[in-house]
Amino acid sequence: MKNSLLGYLLLLSNIIVAQKTFVVQTTAPGKEISKSMWGIFFEDINLAADGGIYAELVKNRSFEFDQPLMGWREHRRNGSPSSLLVQNRSTTHPQNPRYLTLTIKPDTARYGLTNEGFRGMGLKKDLAYDLSIWASVTEGNDLTLKAELVNQKGEVLGSTEIKPSGKDWKKYAVQLKSSDTAQKAKLNIWFTGTGKLDLDMISLFPTDTWKGRKGGLRNDLVQLLADMKPGFIRFPGGCIVEGRTLENRYQWKKTVGNVENRELIINRWNTEFAHRSTPDYFQSFGLGFFEYFQLAADIGAEPLPILNCGMACQFNSGEVVPTNQLDPYIQDALDLIEFANGTVQTKWGKLRSDMGHPEPFHLKMMGVGNEQWGEQYLERYQIFAKAIKEKYPDIQLVSSVGPFSGGDLFNLLNPALRALKADILDEHYYAPPDWFLRNARRYDKYDRNGPKIFAGEYAGHSTNRELVGEKRNNFQAALSEAAFMTGLERNADIVRMASYAPLFAHLEGWQWAPDLIWYDNVKSYATPSYYVQKFFSANKGTNAIPVLMNNDVIAGQDSCYASAVMDKNQKEIIVKIVNAGPTAQMIDLKFDGLKKGSGRATVEVLKSENLEDINTIGSPDKIKPVESSLDYKKGVLKLQALPASIQVIKVKLQ
Ligand code: AHR
Repeated sequence: MKNSLLGYLLLLSNIIVAQKTFVVQTTAPGKEISKSMWGIFFEDINLAADGGIYAELVKNRSFEFDQPLMGWREHRRNGSPSSLLVQNRSTTHPQNPRYLTLTIKPDTARYGLTNEGFRGMGLKKDLAYDLSIWASVTEGNDLTLKAELVNQKGEVLGSTEIKPSGKDWKKYAVQLKSSDTAQKAKLNIWFTGTGKLDLDMISLFPTDTWKGRKGGLRNDLVQLLADMKPGFIRFPGGCIVEGRTLENRYQWKKTVGNVENRELIINRWNTEFAHRSTPDYFQSFGLGFFEYFQLAADIGAEPLPILNCGMACQFNSGEVVPTNQLDPYIQDALDLIEFANGTVQTKWGKLRSDMGHPEPFHLKMMGVGNEQWGEQYLERYQIFAKAIKEKYPDIQLVSSVGPFSGGDLFNLLNPALRALKADILDEHYYAPPDWFLRNARRYDKYDRNGPKIFAGEYAGHSTNRELVGEKRNNFQAALSEAAFMTGLERNADIVRMASYAPLFAHLEGWQWAPDLIWYDNVKSYATPSYYVQKFFSANKGTNAIPVLMNNDVIAGQDSCYASAVMDKNQKEIIVKIVNAGPTAQMIDLKFDGLKKGSGRATVEVLKSENLEDINTIGSPDKIKPVESSLDYKKGVLKLQALPASIQVIKVKLQ
């Protein structure tokens, strides 16, 4: 009895102490929010492209990995008369040098090949799959290829046959259906008959790709992106732009045109981390620059390509191109603008059109380098900026202020780029949750007349106690990111873009965590951080308006953080409130100036009992937003902000 009375009094004192009024100034003119405010950072890290969003199921489909048969197994009995040979015609076909020559002879045992896929192949029950193979038969006229989809138990889930003929290389395309769902299936190809044939580009795609495009993207993953209603998509990274050496940098021209001729390179994340080594990680560029632009157009996001500026990753080799030899790099940038925006009469505009998009992609901005630093970046940035602005003065350039949010590297570039009147500065911060809470006011005092800010890569890095060193997408990280994002939104006049990073990770093939969206071969799930991103991007409004407590912005007082926007198109006020503390807050949310003082607000809440909670592939919905509605009267909404919660409140402007 005594205890419960004490508990009651404590609860009461909490409530009284926590009672506060937040005033939303609905009649303030409001800072215009950029249409591309909240976006996506895409990098081919963690099997994000091959093995991820690019729906190809065959690994090493063109035998171009360093080890030509990686991912493949030859089924051959000892002494078999059938055999294979890896051919390399690099002089005549530098982009696609390798193919297989198979000699097939009758035998007592079956002869064939198996592809293991990317950590297996994900198959769905009753779904049809497009199999295509390039072949040239050089001897014999009765060769047959039997293709089988096989699950882990060895059961055949679907099969079909191809009878290639003729010496000319031809693409044979067939469909086969899977009778069951399988997480780790394989593709077998059995050979019968007598003769010799050459094979290349053995490819298998599901037919349920995004928009049903042949050779397209994984539908569930693109849908998660589309649901965010992102304002932009930055591609192709990240460090992948830079390469560990210049040789290994991303070159967009090698990623467009026929997929067969896109030159494969090693993925820099293959070898980056010894403790997360991924020896089978290569870039086929099936997802190349055309597909990135197309994806951006599909999901209504502004394209933001980032190009190499003649500098390899400074965490690795730090190789640079001498400034008098930058021309090819600059030409790549100029040609990319033509590829995206040029008429079909131009060289690169024609290629875009030939690839299926005669309309321009309306490119408006481009990044010069990724996480570069030092004087060498300033030198190269200026040469790039001069050349690009001379030809395309309207293109906005994103420039690097280094990999960190402060310190020597930042302190050199930040003032220097401001003095050069750079358009947009790309700031990155991967930091513990506490950093995000402490930095919610970071942009309040930034120069309003200087360059705009792109919060280009950020994520709260919580360390999970049980999994030492493994940073996970727990609720604490999401909570701190949300608190920080209220500061970005409040400063929407200078912070024009922001994106969480990295975006994707395959559960069995990742190098870097945390990441926004995780998946296996069949399923995918969103992290709490994803829902935070969605809270902001799907509710971005048109103008940031003040929300104040005691005439001050709400950025950490009693662990509360808040921002508010008006959506002039939807005629709505949207308030985001984060309670990052352990105490419930009773809030009178006062809509100053709302003409009709009463109505119903919709409220979406993201919360979790435990800061270390995470979503998993088995429990994907453990933490997800819950929607409800609340009445407000005389312009005041009485709201409880639960401990460790994020909420989005919407009221209609009358
Ligand atoms: O997002 C992962 C990496 O972090 C990016 O490639 C790089 O830009 C940053 O260092």
